[in-house]
Order: sequence, then C-alpha cells, then structure tokens
Amino acid sequence: MLDVQQIRADFPILQEEAYPGVPLVYLDSAASSQKPLPVIEVMNQYYRHTNANVHRGIHRLSEDATNAYEGARERITRFINAADSAEVIYVRNATEGFNLVAYSWGRANLQPGDEILITAMEHHANIVPWQIIAEQTGAVVRHLPFLPNGTLDLDQLPQLLTEKTKLFSFTAVSNVFGTVNPVKQLIDAAHKVGALAMVDAAQAVPHMPVDVQAWDCDFLAFSGHKMCGPTGIGILFGKRHILDAMPPFMGGGDMIRRVTLEGSTWADLPHKFEAGTPGIAEGIGLGTAVDYLTNLGMTNVHAYEQQITNYALEALSEVDGLQILGPSAAQRGGVAAFTIQGLHPHDIAELLDKDGIAIRAGHHCAMPLHHLSGVNSSARASFYIHTTTEEVDKLVESLNRARKVFRL
Ligand SMILES: Cc1ncc(COP(=O)(O)O)c(C=O)c1O
Repeated sequence: MLDVQQIRADFPILQEEAYPGVPLVYLDSAASSQKPLPVIEVMNQYYRHTNANVHRGIHRLSEDATNAYEGARERITRFINAADSAEVIYVRNATEGFNLVAYSWGRANLQPGDEILITAMEHHANIVPWQIIAEQTGAVVRHLPFLPNGTLDLDQLPQLLTEKTKLFSFTAVSNVFGTVNPVKQLIDAAHKVGALAMVDAAQAVPHMPVDVQAWDCDFLAFSGHKMCGPTGIGILFGKRHILDAMPPFMGGGDMIRRVTLEGSTWADLPHKFEAGTPGIAEGIGLGTAVDYLTNLGMTNVHAYEQQITNYALEALSEVDGLQILGPSAAQRGGVAAFTIQGLHPHDIAELLDKDGIAIRAGHHCAMPLHHLSGVNSSARASFYIHTTTEEVDKLVESLNRARKVFRL
C-alpha cells in the first residue's frame, strides 16, 4: 500500500493554502493532476543545463537533450508494455492522439457507409474527431448506449458492432461515471468483426496497470498532465504494422527521410508522426512522471484509489439529496460525479472553493453522457495517490454547509 503522507510531501503545491489560513484540498486530479517535485526538477534541470533541439545538432547539448527525450520514450514504452518504442508516438495530449488517428487512418481507410462505433459515455475528444472525419468520408458514427447504472449496455453490442464497423473507439474508464469498462472483452469483440480497436486511456494509464500487448489494442491514447506529468505532452500508441501503413498526419521537419522540390519521403516510426520541434522538456518530464508512478507501483496506486473511492462513495451517500452518477464502487475508478437536489453544480463548486476544496463542475466534456442521464451538468470530485480520508471528510462537511447556505 502507499504511504500517502510521504507522497503528499513530494507535491509542493499540496503544502500551500488555497486562501490565507485555508489549506488546499485538491479533488480535481481527473481534470489535471498535480506534479511531484522530481517532475518539476527534471524540467528545471533540462532548461538550466541541457536545453537544445533534439535529433539535429552534433553538439553535446543536443546529444544530451536527445538522449533524455528518447530515454523517456523507452521508459514510457515499458510502462504500457508496448513491444517497441517505435509504436509510442509523442503527441500534445490524448485529444491529439484521437485526431491523429481520425485524420491519418480515417481519411485513408474510411469509405461511405463504413461505421465507427463509440460509446455514449465518451469524452468529446473521442466523439468530435470521428464526427469530423465521418462527415468528410461519408462514414457513419454509431454509439453503444449505457444502462441507468452507468455501465455499458453490452447486450446491444452485437447489433452495433458488425462487419460494417471499421473502428471501435471507447474509453477504458469514464471521466464522469468512473466506470471501468471491460476493455479486453470489447477489443476482442471488435477484432472478431474485423474492426480495429482504439482505447481512450486518459483516465486509465494514470490510475492502473495498463498493458497494450495483453489488451491487444490497435491504438491507445493518454495525456501526461493527468498522470503527474506536464501539460503539452501525451502518447499515441499504435501497432507498428498499422502505423507503418498510415500516411503522415502533419508535414514538416523531423518527419521526413528526403525532401525534393518535387516530393518527399517519410522518416521511420515514430518520427513519421512527429513533425516539428517537439515538447522536449515535456517528454522528459513525462518520463520522470512514469518513473515516479513506477516506483509507487501501479497495482498499489490502483488499490489505494479503490480504497479511498469506496470511502468517499459511502461518505457522500450520507449527504441528503446527493445523487451519485455511475456504478457501485466495485466497477469504478477514482471519480465521483454527483448532483444535489436544489443546488446547481456551479454553486456547489463555488461554495466548496471557499473552503479550499477544488472540484470540477459542468459537463466535464461529456455532454451526451449528461444529456442521456437527464442532467445538464454535475459536480465531480476525483481522487489520486495523495487524497486522504480527512480530505474526503472535509468535502462532505463542506457539502453539508453548502446545503445549509441554500436552506435545503
Ligand atoms: C476520458 C478522457 N478522454 C480524453 C480526455 C482528453 O484529455 P486532454 O484534454 O488532455 O487531451 C480526457 C480529459 O479530461 C478524459 O478524461
């Protein structure tokens, strides 16, 4: 198990106050996680001592920068158990990963009448790129509904996942319901009908062991900033033979083998998909975030989050009028989205903020999920490796105070 107090000491921001005399209670890691000192330090060190462009210069700084940046890619490769670092593409965030696949693979492979299957619980990052590419290619986007308890309606899968489906793209963990979906089962079902499978792992890679070879996914995307790493860096994993057959997404420096004024040829993977000067400090920072999580052990991270989530779900259920969205603790990750009868989620978040408690309010980039759940928005508390039971207790006390302010 994790030593939470020791972990908290690693995060400088957690030692700060939200307002004078009001300690910060950060319950918004699902939106973006805080950063431990080693990640902050490694980026600082890079700019102080190693800053140079990568893959280009023959001078020492450039070699050091390239080694640090490519070394990070190797550790990220091991972290998700990809077979080869050529399959691990640096992108800006999960969103860019979906867009890369939609524009590169989608434009080359989708024909009128082809289908892309998503689910109704997706983040907009896993909805909108497919809608755009469907409009351009004549393909159709279909969705697998969810049940009232926030789990996927698997009974409808056989009607929706057919030989017309070319790609099934779904989230491993919902950022609103917290639902942990049966990833392997869904990937196997996609492969059975000849479709590719893409996993949105933005809420999975930071929180549980992920093994792309065991899952056998064709693509998988996640963001660095939700897993103790910096913003501006994420990963698209793709199987080598599929990436090899795909055209480039963006053109420019670093992604070419040879350029003439008549035409160009492409660099080998992963560089074919990495045009231009990348987020070098960010890649290095993500490598250190991966080291940090690896040292904790992802099995421990997952077990601790389950424990704190169970505690939170029970504590929240004591608040009058509070309705939690999503399934029981057994089927969810460290996210609790809720509504309180008579209180707008924005009012909840504002009142909690006065007590130093940071949560998120709104649609959490999942408008269809909220619409189908019969609400416009929700409040969401999310938990990570540094969340304590005392912080959850403060959340519940503050929610009870908020109810009193509104005379509920
Ligand atoms: C499930 C899920 N997918 C995708 C994303 C998009 O991540 P980013 O905004 O870092 O690209 C998020 C971020 O909230 C998410 O929770």
